[in-house]
Amino acid sequence: MADKDSLQETHNFYLDIPMENEPFRLRGSNSLDWGMKNRLSKIFCPETGRTVMLAIDHGYFLGPTTGLERVDVTILPLLPYADTLMCTRGILRSTIPPTFTKGIVLRASGGPSILKELSNEEIAVDIEDAIRLNVAALAVQVFVGGEYETKSIHNMTRLVDLGHRYGIPVLGVTAVGKEMVRDAKYLRLATRICAELGASYIKTYYVSEGFETITASCPVPIVIAGGKKIPKLEALRMAYQAVQQGAAGVDMGRNIFQSEDPVAMIQAVRKVVHEDIKPEEAYELCLTLENERKREGR
Ligand code: 5RP
Repeated sequence: MADKDSLQETHNFYLDIPMENEPFRLRGSNSLDWGMKNRLSKIFCPETGRTVMLAIDHGYFLGPTTGLERVDVTILPLLPYADTLMCTRGILRSTIPPTFTKGIVLRASGGPSILKELSNEEIAVDIEDAIRLNVAALAVQVFVGGEYETKSIHNMTRLVDLGHRYGIPVLGVTAVGKEMVRDAKYLRLATRICAELGASYIKTYYVSEGFETITASCPVPIVIAGGKKIPKLEALRMAYQAVQQGAAGVDMGRNIFQSEDPVAMIQAVRKVVHEDIKPEEAYELCLTLENERKREGR
């Protein structure tokens, strides 16, 4: 038992120091509960308010995508450079070491393969399993204008309700069907619908015309998908333009893991996202890292 006699009688209540009550810096997120904010802080770097999410969930409808045939070999070396990993629970349990303590954004919708109508998704994860896996957010595909538009939006609103019950944010992923025009007008519609219906943050695509109107009209953070593999400098330019025009980071997959040297590329992406470094400079850094790593036989 504690010795009462050793209790100090003098106290310092720091009466001259008002207690700070900093607003939560993430766009539109100030009214969220502590658990939600804490989880979002495992995704968005508290210092910059931005994120480099590494997206490797493609297998949930594509199977063993190029670059993801062996996640243990190709993806694990990238983890030190990602703020967050977006993946399925299958890959998480089988391949990602539980010592990975950054945020996991769990793919929570699925169903159809690439051979079928992709918008016909269902919720694919029980909320209890997401809690067991200690995830930072749940990701759900929303097919605005798609054949199963209402169903996919209902998947999202259901997950938003469950997420609020347990303090888990939902990432609304605006999926664009093959036949749809990917322009600012469409993406403004899709991102705003996701935000209005409760997603904590939204993933969408970068468009060269009017992207800033998408971020301006969406009251929660937006991250961009990388899309199909393009030349490295172009991918870095896209990431740069996106954050300069209001995105809170990237959720990038193929342009990292299909790159010639993914470890070098992800470090270049980080520079652009977190340090506002010009894409040309980040590209030079990428080449330097690639050469160094080649010399070291890595
Ligand atoms: C699949 C996804 C992917 O995570 C997303 O497309 C990001 O990957 P990439 O940069 O390769 O486009 O949501 O539906």
